[in-house]
Amino acid sequence: MSAGSRGGKATAAAAANIAFIKYWGIRDEALVLPVNPSISMTLRSCRSLCTAELLAGDRPTEVLLRGDGGELAPAPEAFARGVEAQVERLCEWAGEAVSMRIAAHNSFPTGAGLASSAAGFTALTVAVVGALGRQVEPREMSVLARLSGSGSAARSVFGGYVEWPAGPSDDAGHGVQLAPPEYWQLCNVIAIVDPTPKSVSSRAGHRAAPTSPYYERRQRDLPGRLEVVRRAIAARDLGLLGPAIEEDAIELHLVAMSSRPPIFYWQAGTLAVLEAARRLRADGVEVYCTIDAGPNVHLICGPDDEAAVAATVETLDHVRYVIRDGVGGPPTLEDEHLF
Ligand code: PMV
Repeated sequence: MSAGSRGGKATAAAAANIAFIKYWGIRDEALVLPVNPSISMTLRSCRSLCTAELLAGDRPTEVLLRGDGGELAPAPEAFARGVEAQVERLCEWAGEAVSMRIAAHNSFPTGAGLASSAAGFTALTVAVVGALGRQVEPREMSVLARLSGSGSAARSVFGGYVEWPAGPSDDAGHGVQLAPPEYWQLCNVIAIVDPTPKSVSSRAGHRAAPTSPYYERRQRDLPGRLEVVRRAIAARDLGLLGPAIEEDAIELHLVAMSSRPPIFYWQAGTLAVLEAARRLRADGVEVYCTIDAGPNVHLICGPDDEAAVAATVETLDHVRYVIRDGVGGPPTLEDEHLF
């Protein structure tokens, strides 16, 4: 990653990531540190763009969203507050008392369990660091992105396959690349069952997780499952990876559904896609599902099966549309700005 030396104004692109082993449970809210390690694949097409520009004078930081037609509009209040807090945090880190104009754009549905916050806050962090004229190593960028509040952003700072360890040092929590994208060309067919923002945030889910009777049990099973996923990535073995990631996703939702109060991210269409994946497997197609904090299903398969998987789930009644994505690289600085 070329991380920001231009100064004044910078635009960054960063991709979402899909967790194979989920971060679910937060052990330090202020430092955004997870209870358990997580492993993900950084995506290629589900990307966020962000432009950051230093503002002259005493003007307050301004947060805009760019629509698909190129128009700029003020961002919704809650999103703007999160962005302003991260801009302030980064300016403080850089020792600069400045404000910024920020514009953001997502190429995919926001807040629907597609890690839009990981992509968005990674792009924001890289753009602001660039506008401040700083150069940082990916590990430090990962810490800075994590502190935005979207912990999974720590993983989107790296391309390919990425682990976010859970400890031991409190402010050293950053992602670590397990393998670059070219090491294993996995595909991710995303079945969009509902593109609208989820009603319960990931943060609320992290907080509620320990109230589930299955949460402790999950912590006991995770070390073994993490090891299987690490081994499967190293060996490029989808037959080993698939059952472990499907099990982990179902377990996250089991914990969520049994939290007090319960959180249901699944919809009827979620079950329909899971069933379609089972039928595809029975027909010899190697495809496995994972689901983040939302109803949409990520179908992980090899390039030879991608078209068949997409064609099958596209025809399901509950599936609105399908995004064909796959493993991708780290954030980049872009020459074209959003304003
Ligand atoms: O990074 P957050 O706070 O948006 O939480 C991410 C939670 C999951 O997407 C469900 C799991 C993960 O590891 O990405």
